[in-house]
Amino acid sequence: MKAEKLVEGFWQQLLPEGGIPRIPLSELKGLVLCGMGGSGIVGSVARTLLLKRGYEKPVVTVKDYDLPPFVKDGYGVVCVSYSGNTEETLHNFRQALERGLPVWCVTSGGKLEKLAREHGLPVALVPKGLQPRFAFGYMFSRLLLMLGFTEKELKDGAEFLRAEQDGLKKLALNLAERLYGFVPALYATPLTAPAAHRWKAQLNENAKTPSHDAVLPELHHNELMGWSNFLLRDKFVYLLFKDPEDHERNLLRAELTEELLKELGHNPVVLEGKGETLLKRTLWLINLGDWVSVLLAGLYGYDPLSIPLIKQVKERLEHA
Ligand code: PA5
Repeated sequence: MKAEKLVEGFWQQLLPEGGIPRIPLSELKGLVLCGMGGSGIVGSVARTLLLKRGYEKPVVTVKDYDLPPFVKDGYGVVCVSYSGNTEETLHNFRQALERGLPVWCVTSGGKLEKLAREHGLPVALVPKGLQPRFAFGYMFSRLLLMLGFTEKELKDGAEFLRAEQDGLKKLALNLAERLYGFVPALYATPLTAPAAHRWKAQLNENAKTPSHDAVLPELHHNELMGWSNFLLRDKFVYLLFKDPEDHERNLLRAELTEELLKELGHNPVVLEGKGETLLKRTLWLINLGDWVSVLLAGLYGYDPLSIPLIKQVKERLEHA
């Protein structure tokens, strides 16, 4: 299926059928969400939503081989890998078993499904045959249900996005034209950081565009000094993501960021998700970024579905 069709139909992925295993969050000491790339971002977005909702235990994302040493007795581990064959995530899975921790998996199959079945562990399956990043909605909706979000919340989100498609595509075309020829600098608040990071990855993979993200308030302590470089700062288009539920000081910092960039002659694109809940606003921003990335790929003449370098690295590692 063409990338544009997949982006347009993103909302449909948010409507999983039943039978999704639930994670007993209140019984855990903490939760670890493992996954890389297009699967890893699923955990990052879910973590922000879960904590904003008031979950009182530590929730960490792991995008590396080793689980942190504190992840032991009482922690639960979720392994998300679309292919089920990602070596870092498989290593996390094995380590979690070695430490005697409960594990849940979200995958379309591969070694992860096989291992999970062998150990009698719960698996939420997603449809096969897609590129991982174009299956975000499938993995995300299943993970949210595992974490106690409701089918109604997901259905509302899906209906909302469905109705937004024309507007999103129009806005995305405008943004893609603005980004053409520049390196996107994606500045986010803590609540919008996962969506901005998804933009970064989609611009990298789909539009074959280097891009960079940084998060407030930290970016006020380093990133902004880079703007002094008159030779380099004009190579970027600046985008500023924020959410009405962010800490008021971060919202003030977002305004200040905009002001400072304007004083340097830049006109940052300010992006706030649409919708009355953080879930909807995050989905809206993600869907917008997906649109931008495939339309920008079109402007550059790239195939959004082709990722030869990622494949090459995986192959070389397999034989190393
Ligand atoms: O978008 C991609 O294809 C990658 O970022 C993959 O998601 C990443 O390499 C991990 O693979 P998987 O999602 O199959 O675990």
